[in-house]
Amino acid sequence: MTDLPQAAGHDPAAAAEKRWAIVVAIIIGSLVLTMIATGLHWAAMPPSRVETIDPRTVHVSGEFVEGNLGTSVGRDGKVVARIVAQQYSFQPSCIVVPAGVPVTFRATSTDAVHGFVVAGTNANTMIVPGYVATFTSRFPETGEKLMPCHEYCGSGHEAMWARVQVIPADEFMRRAGGGERVSCVRR
Ligand code: CUA
Repeated sequence: MTDLPQAAGHDPAAAAEKRWAIVVAIIIGSLVLTMIATGLHWAAMPPSRVETIDPRTVHVSGEFVEGNLGTSVGRDGKVVARIVAQQYSFQPSCIVVPAGVPVTFRATSTDAVHGFVVAGTNANTMIVPGYVATFTSRFPETGEKLMPCHEYCGSGHEAMWARVQVIPADEFMRRAGGGERVSCVRR
């Protein structure tokens, strides 16, 4: 029987284990840090914050100029409703959507944080200046619904709301033919 050439107090297995314990601790630590950082980042932003926009030029150029607001059918056949929120109204103040067809809402704010919910539906979003809030919803029944602002935005918050008219899809498509904007704002 021969002695292994091992110095007293030196255990290679224990040393290797300690090294790997440190590596694993670093990996777990960085995963936890990533979770905390993304959690804080997401909590401070609206849910659909991927698209940014300059709130100072919303009215002047780009997608949200007045002539482009309201509901229309895009070249791809998708129904899009574009809305600008500002203290203390929505533009347009009456939005027409087709029944039973997916409608993509795109909304932005020029001043404070606003939001809206279409009563009795899952259409609900926060509208934060600098971001385009977007979601897609479907309205199964025709009729008129209220769309109030649901984020406190100042002294006129209570009076900030719009109407949503859900009309039969064929009627909507007829009115939206040729890329027309469909609106129910009284002139
Ligand atoms: Cu806008 Cu409350």
